[in-house]
Amino acid sequence: MDIARSLMFVPGHRAKMVDKAGGLGTLDLAMFDIEDGVPPAEKDTARALLGAKLPTMTAARPRRFVRVNAVKSDRFARDVAAVVVPGVEGLALPKVESADEVRDAERDVAERERETGAKGTTFIVAIESAIGLLRAYEIAAASPRVMGLMFGAEDFANDLGLPTDRRGAARELAQARAQIVFAATAAHVQSYDGVWPEIADLDGLRRDSVQSRELGFTGKTLIHPGQIETINAVFTPSDADVDLARKVVAAFEEAVRRGEGAIAFGGQLIDLPIVERARRVIALYEATR
Ligand code: COA
Ligand code: MG
Repeated sequence: MDIARSLMFVPGHRAKMVDKAGGLGTLDLAMFDIEDGVPPAEKDTARALLGAKLPTMTAARPRRFVRVNAVKSDRFARDVAAVVVPGVEGLALPKVESADEVRDAERDVAERERETGAKGTTFIVAIESAIGLLRAYEIAAASPRVMGLMFGAEDFANDLGLPTDRRGAARELAQARAQIVFAATAAHVQSYDGVWPEIADLDGLRRDSVQSRELGFTGKTLIHPGQIETINAVFTPSDADVDLARKVVAAFEEAVRRGEGAIAFGGQLIDLPIVERARRVIALYEATR
């Protein structure tokens, strides 16, 4: 199992931040940015910097992705030329609105992989508009390279015309977030929720992350190293979670040996879907230790 719980945006034109992110062993995935976190005049700097640094970054963690500019933009070709190099594990594709965009990206990336020797570049696809959301399943299923859908909450809110001051953004957008989870699950890919923008408010981050988890997201994007620990903790089963899961599985297996299909355990019905969930908790727990 290879689930990314914490995915951090890193401005791609800031050498110090790129280096720092590359050394954060607790971070699951770094998304070095050339899109909206980088001003137009700095995009060439970001391309050159990432193109040079990625091949030298060899640590097992974090995984290294680059958020390129939109596939439909005229910047995309230059981004792919610069950063699809050995050392990059994937691209985050922003503002995707159709399955064709994913297939176009796939073709360009495959061609560049042949030139540079990069291999197996996967995609995280950002859903950031109403039309993207309505097509989220076909987008997620458009290519075997797609590893997950990511929710771009700020651009999505902008598409809807929501006001700028949105402290409770997560609640307002709960329906869109849930739909992203459904689409990703149906396409057998992961799902990553949008960022909590208030860096100093760790309680808010925890509550927002718990809501992400309860909606079914498999991970969450973030913007500052101080947010990694909270997100990893929320998306990792606790000792108590796994203890309960192991008891559920054991009780069920015992019941099956007796020839029973469903049993009561601690006052709760235990049947096959609950056991399957318990097994997933155990697998995730073991994969994240
Ligand atoms: N990636 C890598 N390193 C980061 C980082 C990030 N996203 N955010 C902060 N850091 C580093 C800082 O460089 C600093 O490193 P140092 O201790 O070695 O000097 C350390 O973490 C502490 O940072 P801090 O001083 O608290 O924050 P800051 O003022 O340097 O940066 C932001 C605050 C918001 C500018 C910064 O977090 C940022 O740029 N985040 C990404 C925003 C982004 O990409 N948005 C677009 C996508 S939503
Ligand atoms: Mg965006």
